[in-house]
Amino acid sequence: MTQRTQEFDLWIRNEFVMLNDKLEAIYREQADPANVEGVGDEIKQQLLLQGQHFIEALLAEGNTDEGFDNAFDLLGNVGLYMAACRRHELTEPSRERHSPLKAASALAMHIGSSIGVTPRFATAHLTTHNTAINGTYKRFTSDPAEKLFIDYNTRGILAYKRAAEALLKVQPLGISHPMAPVLLEEVKRALVDVINSNQALFKQLDTESFFYVVRPYYKPYRVGKEVYRGANAGDFAGINVIDMMLGLCQANDVDYAQILVEKLLYMMPEDQATLKECMRLPNLLDAFLAAQAQCKEPWYQAALKVFLQACKLHGDTAIQHHNQLVEKYICGPAKALANQHLDKVTASGPPLQVLLAQLETLRDKRAGAKRTDLDTRYDDLQALRKTLVSSEVPDAS
Ligand code: HEM
Repeated sequence: MTQRTQEFDLWIRNEFVMLNDKLEAIYREQADPANVEGVGDEIKQQLLLQGQHFIEALLAEGNTDEGFDNAFDLLGNVGLYMAACRRHELTEPSRERHSPLKAASALAMHIGSSIGVTPRFATAHLTTHNTAINGTYKRFTSDPAEKLFIDYNTRGILAYKRAAEALLKVQPLGISHPMAPVLLEEVKRALVDVINSNQALFKQLDTESFFYVVRPYYKPYRVGKEVYRGANAGDFAGINVIDMMLGLCQANDVDYAQILVEKLLYMMPEDQATLKECMRLPNLLDAFLAAQAQCKEPWYQAALKVFLQACKLHGDTAIQHHNQLVEKYICGPAKALANQHLDKVTASGPPLQVLLAQLETLRDKRAGAKRTDLDTRYDDLQALRKTLVSSEVPDAS
């Protein structure tokens, strides 16, 4: 890390958080806490100019070739600054054609294109690749709701990644290998961890704090002339590895392929490679369908039972995400919000109804639900359930 990169990092970890905190306190005091216009202008300017000072120096320094990790980390810091400027409406993509943050845009595009990721901050910057110093990792504010949200996003992502890794290990062994049920048990444990973590988040996260203090920093913003959608906890390969390795979602399905194409550059390069690799692999559901002639074999019964349980749990995490987290923290407050702010509800940009329909599609594919208007693996899962001797496996959701 160069001296300048270190100084900027120090600013992001300290003054930047203090300035955001001050602004949040001002917004909260208003009759309409969603309004950010015409308040705290002096503090907003401090944030804008202080950040710009560090960034201009870094831009002048040029490509310091300090390795991937430092470049990715610096991109995250520039991104946090740009996202905060967006949150405080120092920039607003619908108002502008180009980001007014010229130096920040240039630095972000330089780094992003050189390491093969979108030139904005991504989920990994705040979760799995966010170094803690003396117990504190990077955040926008010191609001406890933000820490809670990031802690549980990280937990969920790490658990999904554990499930994905175990599933990938089944691939070279095959479903009749004695280790297949052992690995699938590992998948189940990891998915139960996701469910428990999401449940804890659901219980503890205050709706208003999330909506007014956390979510606004995840809005889309412009880098140069392009608008990049907000970060979300799904921007890692693991979740899609689980979808595709189980066989619940398929890369040649138009709805699902759209999601993969769209999210690829929001992931770390190593995740991009895993995802691409996984798109070329056969899936377990198809392997069980092809093995039905051996359904009386003990290996088939043992492996299929755990496989169907793992599918059920994966579906449960998706149902929980949509019916609990999205419903409580996005749909609920959106209904209560004044109309003038309604277009600003989602992090990804599309209108709320469009976003909800996309998430419902994912939920129902992951749950293998019966949908006449959508391709799901409902019929295939039913066919497999019928070949199971034991009746302990739960039905489709
Ligand atoms: C995507 C909401 C927590 C996993 C999304 C999206 C929304 C959302 C609205 C759609 C994209 C967008 O708006 O940018 C929430 C809310 C949460 C929450 C309100 C909690 C307050 C989590 C957690 C996880 C998670 C803890 C676990 C890792 C995902 C995934 C996606 C996603 C995987 C991408 C779409 C998909 O593949 O399912 N989330 N989320 N979310 N979220 Fe969450």
